Amino acid sequence: MKTLFLFTLIIQFTSFIFAKSNSLSGNRILVVLDNIEDKSNYSIFFKSLEDRGFDLSYSSASDDKLELIKFEESLYDHLVLLAPETNYYENDVGPKQIIEFIDKGGNVLLAANENTGSTTQDLLYEFGSVVDEAKFNVIDNFVHNSTTSSVLALDKLEIPISSDELEAPILYSGTAIKFKGKNPYSKPLLVAGPAAYSWDNSAVNKDPLVTGSNIVLVNTLQAVNNARIIITGSTKMFTDEFIESPVKINDKTYEKSGNLDFITNISKWTFQEKKVLKVISSKHHKVGETERPEYYTIKNNMHYEIELSEYNDGIWQPFNATDIQLELIMLDPYIRTTLKQQPITNPTSSTFSIDLIIPDHCGVFTFKVDYRRYGLSWILEKDVIAIHPLHYNEFPRFLGEGLPYYFGAFSMLGGFIIISILALYHEDDTKKNTDTVTSSKKEKEVAATEKKKN
Ligand SMILES: *[C@@H]1O[C@H](CO)[C@@H](O)[C@H](O)[C@H]1NC(C)=O
Ligand SMILES: *[C@@H]1O[C@H](CO)[C@@H](O)[C@H](O)[C@H]1NC(C)=O
Ligand SMILES: *[C@@H]1O[C@H](CO)[C@@H](O)[C@H](O)[C@H]1NC(C)=O
Ligand SMILES: *[C@@H]1O[C@H](CO)[C@@H](O)[C@H](O)[C@H]1NC(C)=O
Repeated sequence: MKTLFLFTLIIQFTSFIFAKSNSLSGNRILVVLDNIEDKSNYSIFFKSLEDRGFDLSYSSASDDKLELIKFEESLYDHLVLLAPETNYYENDVGPKQIIEFIDKGGNVLLAANENTGSTTQDLLYEFGSVVDEAKFNVIDNFVHNSTTSSVLALDKLEIPISSDELEAPILYSGTAIKFKGKNPYSKPLLVAGPAAYSWDNSAVNKDPLVTGSNIVLVNTLQAVNNARIIITGSTKMFTDEFIESPVKINDKTYEKSGNLDFITNISKWTFQEKKVLKVISSKHHKVGETERPEYYTIKNNMHYEIELSEYNDGIWQPFNATDIQLELIMLDPYIRTTLKQQPITNPTSSTFSIDLIIPDHCGVFTFKVDYRRYGLSWILEKDVIAIHPLHYNEFPRFLGEGLPYYFGAFSMLGGFIIISILALYHEDDTKKNTDTVTSSKKEKEVAATEKKKN
């Protein structure tokens, strides 16, 4: 009994030590701050991350122990950059290293503010965005908290990641970020209202950098390797002050802002705790068989099937969709068709399949499912297989429809033979022949003499 008790105690203890987060890419977060004392300003946010099982390390941007990548290995799985004001981070931790970190699969939550320094500016530039001048704030004279026009109170998401809704407005105070390019992988999650602009305390005397809904407040970006990045122009959004602040917008009041709910959701998305897709298996074979063939022959009937799973808050669920497409490609797609979701039989995954006829074209084909949707991780599943022409004994030799052609061919053949026989064995009457020759000679002579006479 005693040993059993000890055993359960040990198990409980180890599970406590190895408390794991729901993130699929790891627990280690590095939080970089301008000053290490700022840590207390974000205590609610950091505590919520710790409660979700993350292992947080804190560093100031000017700490000489600041390290992100060592011996080509990332030391952390996720990065929270709340140090916009520091111009140069210690140990060459800068845009180059942070991009390398992302290339290795690291996720980044990046916040700028109205005093953004050069490191954060350069990093934003890497993501195709620019931040407004120092001391410039986003101002909205209509949609703001109580009477402060520089604290926006937003109650609508621009492009929600899932069917999320705000229970209370989000308070935002910070700088305006402008996205220049048309990066298809980048989407605004929260934008300013139509009357917003970005300016400092002075009178507005020229065009602001950006206005209205072009001011991106929170932006999402998913890299091709499925690393996720959140960019925002407000560090204040994450502070305890804003999380706990009441909101007064027009005549409506809310006891608490929606900030905690919002930053919890965006950090869950960023740190791969939700909306992660995975291919469990994919297969294809001829209809009626089960094994992948070595090659297909043109016009074979085939069956394609892919099994997908979606991860949300620690559980794998069947993924539901009506827009997954299969492509059969040889340089260009020959077939692009939508897969049909089959009834769910497995609690953790769902199957999408289709039966189709192989194109009437031989060559080396790629069967590809390339599924890229906003908010979800990207899926690329490929298989290369040859399509052969029909073998000589695989199609019928004599067809009814071909009878006129057969007739034509054989009649030509017959005609040729008959004419050859005629030509070879036909004998003219030789005497008659010489007669006609001599008679024509005579006629000529007569004609010639008549001419002379004349
Ligand atoms: C943190 O809070 C203190 C006290 O409220 C304040 O003086 C300081 O400016 C805050 N720091 C940041 C980065 O917001
Ligand atoms: C946050 O996530 C929860 C659960 O998915 C959802 O009900 C809520 O609407 C989300 N809130 C925001 C602000 O995204
Ligand atoms: C928002 O307005 C309320 C009500 O006036 C006020 O108590 C609160 O401090 C304001 N919050 C911020 C962040 O300015
Ligand atoms: C997909 O639909 C099934 C059945 O309706 C449901 O159980 C499952 O949770 C859904 N998956 C997701 C990711 O919502």
